[in-house]
Formats: sequence, C-alpha cells, structure tokens
Amino acid sequence: MSKIAPSLLAADALHLGREAGLAAGMGCDYFHLDIMDGVFVPNLSFGPHVLAGLRREVGAVYDVHLMVIDPLPFIDVFAENGADILTVHVEARHFEESLAKIRGLGLRAGASLRPGTQARAIEPYFNLLDLILVMTVEPGFGGQSFMADMLPKIRAIREYITQHGLDCELEVDGGVNPETAKLCIDAGANVLVAGSDVFGQADRVGRIEQLRTVGG
Ligand code: DX5
Ligand code: ZN
Repeated sequence: MSKIAPSLLAADALHLGREAGLAAGMGCDYFHLDIMDGVFVPNLSFGPHVLAGLRREVGAVYDVHLMVIDPLPFIDVFAENGADILTVHVEARHFEESLAKIRGLGLRAGASLRPGTQARAIEPYFNLLDLILVMTVEPGFGGQSFMADMLPKIRAIREYITQHGLDCELEVDGGVNPETAKLCIDAGANVLVAGSDVFGQADRVGRIEQLRTVGG
C-alpha cells in the first residue's frame, strides 16, 4: 500500500485550515506543502507563517517541498514552524549544504528532481537522503498532465535504492490520479502526492483510499 500526501496547493485557499482538518480526518500519511519563490518556478504560494498556522490547527506530518532557488536561508524558519520533511531541489543553490543542515536539525531530508534532471544527479547524495521526490510535471502549478516519460527515472531510482539497501522513500508529484498512480507504483514509487485529483473530488476519503490501494 502506498502513502498518500495530499498537496494543499489544490485546497481552497480561503479555508486552508478547514481543508487541512478534513484531509487529516481522511487518513492521509503526509501533508504536502509547496513553497515557491517566483524564481525557481514562475509562481508564488505559501510562506512559513502558513505552515505555522496549519501546524497549530492540524496535527500531521508536514512534507514541505521547497521550490526555491536558494533553500539554505529558509531551512531554519521552516524547521521552527513545523516541517517534518524538507525537500530541496538538486538544481537549486547550496543543495548539499541544505541537505546537511536539514538532517542536522533532526528533520527528514528530501531531494527533488525536475523532469529534465537525470537520476544520476542525486547518486552522490544518497547517504544524506530520507526521501527522493521525482517531479512528474514541470514544478510550479497544480493540475498539469502526468509525464509518463518520467517512469524510467522512477524505476532507475527504485533499483538503486534496492540494490544499495537504502532506507529512502520514493515520492512522485504531479498529475497523479488513480491511473497514473498505478504506473508510478509499478515503477517503484511508495509515496504519492496528489493535489487536484484529491481536492477536486466530492468523495475525497474514497479517492484517497482508491489511490492508496491502486497498486494492490
Ligand atoms: C507542482 C507541485 C505539486 C502540485 C501537484 O509544482 O509541486 O505538489 O500541487 O498538483 P497536481 O496533483 O494537481 O498535479
Ligand atoms: Zn510539490
């Protein structure tokens, strides 16, 4: 069974606390919070105060995806405000220092790859990683179509994790729905981020359960 991380980017922003509270009651494993700086991606989203507010209201494991050009100056503030997992992009500045800093603060460290980045880019850093996030759309916006050509990358990373006996989660993000979730799970992903596919449903609980069990 897969872990499910609803992406709050697709939740109703005016009622984020309520949406998160409902999501918490749906038995999801992580909350995925997308942070954007308008530079690394052409969009803006949430800041650390939003995480702090959510954390006060809703107990959950917060999986914070930093889509920023230089994550290093932001790690402390996201840690202080309640991140449990902090994921930085391999294409960003101060990537290795950021991973070390995240681990040094006692949080789980993740590395994300844009669609154009090869799996081998993260191989030197595996000993610093608790999670790998493979982007299956270009980062920056919810509601895009899944890029099936990312499946070989997911497979290659899963093979590497298995071969080396690593304790590292493999998460996918972008365009996940029951059909594409099955492809990702078959390729070796164990955590599914889903934004519009979950929050767009009348029956979100049913959808989360469907996503969780789609791989058998
Ligand atoms: C995109 C974000 C995703 C986004 C996924 O840059 O990283 O987490 O919310 O949204 P969906 O599931 O709608 O593709
Ligand atoms: Zn994300």
